[in-house]
Amino acid sequence: MFVYLQQLWETNSLSPHGICLLWRPELIWTHVSADALIGIAYYSIPIALAFFVSRRHDIQFGWVFWAFALFILACGTTHFFAIYTLWVPDYGTEALIKIITAALSIITAAAVWVLLPKALAIPSTEELRKLNEELIQQIAERNAALAALQAEKAEHLKTEEMLRQSQKMEAVGQLTGGIAHDFNNLLTVVVGHLERLEREFRDNPKIYRSVKGAIDGATRGAALTQKLLAFGRRQPLTPMRLNANLLIDSMSDLLRRAVGERVSVNINLDTVLWPVEVDSNQLENALLNLAVNARDALPDGGTITIRSANVTDPIGEKGAKHTGQFAMITVKDDGTGMTPDVMARAFEPFFTTKNVGEGTGLGLSQVYGFVKQSNGHIEIESNRGANGTMIRIYLPRARTASGPIRAVAGIGFATPVGQAT
Ligand SMILES: Nc1ncnc2c1ncn2[C@@H]1O[C@H](COP(=O)(O)OP(=O)(O)OP(=O)(O)O)[C@@H](O)[C@H]1O
Ligand SMILES: [Mg+2]
Repeated sequence: MFVYLQQLWETNSLSPHGICLLWRPELIWTHVSADALIGIAYYSIPIALAFFVSRRHDIQFGWVFWAFALFILACGTTHFFAIYTLWVPDYGTEALIKIITAALSIITAAAVWVLLPKALAIPSTEELRKLNEELIQQIAERNAALAALQAEKAEHLKTEEMLRQSQKMEAVGQLTGGIAHDFNNLLTVVVGHLERLEREFRDNPKIYRSVKGAIDGATRGAALTQKLLAFGRRQPLTPMRLNANLLIDSMSDLLRRAVGERVSVNINLDTVLWPVEVDSNQLENALLNLAVNARDALPDGGTITIRSANVTDPIGEKGAKHTGQFAMITVKDDGTGMTPDVMARAFEPFFTTKNVGEGTGLGLSQVYGFVKQSNGHIEIESNRGANGTMIRIYLPRARTASGPIRAVAGIGFATPVGQAT
């Protein structure tokens, strides 16, 4: 073996490759330049491959690139050595380089064949693009489902909140109505007896004055209980089939007087409003209450607009659905508006933001009770400091075409005093 290797590197008996080319310069230099160019190119390719693999950590089968790099490097070396052996007959080293190149070539070739099925299994760019599109589509669908779920959740929370609010109003209404009912009956008895005393002591000025004072106090108490009864939906109502347009029209002067000169009242009525079946006095009372509230929200003057329109299955302010046909009356002002907190409590009895003595907080609660007792709906739309407030009243369309239609002649706002219920 040693002798074999010794003979392999024995160069004395050999002549350089140039001799075979008879040292003809055109052959020598053509070989030199061709081998040099091939060698340089072969050396640059592994550098590019190494750079590529080192930058792309995601690349699969990266070791194959390294095998390629070594194999091409060895090929390049054989070409550089071919230049060397033109002058130096070191064919032993050349043979060794070729052996190394052969080994690297076989390893790389074997690896390529082994890897071929795996490489074919890698999805093509087109397939990846399609998969990507599918993924994007799935993400969009999932996002849409998520958004729908969130919207449903928000809807659910809103419905729960509305239910809580209406349960609270129901409970307060029942309590208030119950107390007011008993209190009203007691006051009826008190006022009855006081009126008898008033008649009896007409000739006794001292007692007469005291009795008068007592009657005044009891009357005020009775008026208050009437308001509470209205909120508790327990006030005696006399529903009449009527056209709300005629009623609004007939009270327009009164409304203008009530709101004063600094506030203008626009009335915009649907020409063919459906008839409703409600207590006309209470409807007048409600409209007056709303107009006065609007006026109070317009300390520097402004406009109140009263409209009427027919609506079917309206969607309410908070998304609540009101099924059926309604004559809708809206009272809108361009005043200060309400904060969400005030809006949430505005219908509660005794809730007021006005100074002591300026408001009892019973106006809207009365309107609320009246509308509910008339099987209608009432809603507030308001933003503090923007666009003022709009109150919508939905009164159910009167079912039957028959029945008396109330001619709205005189307007009476007097609440029955101490009337037993
Ligand atoms: N149009 C409106 N603009 C702004 N806030 C309003 C409006 N209407 C009602 N409010 C608010 O709702 C609260 C309750 O109104 P409600 O009519 O029940 O009572 P009040 O007007 O304060 O007193 P009362 O009507 O007994 O004189 C008011 O204090 C006010 O804060
Ligand atoms: Mg009021």
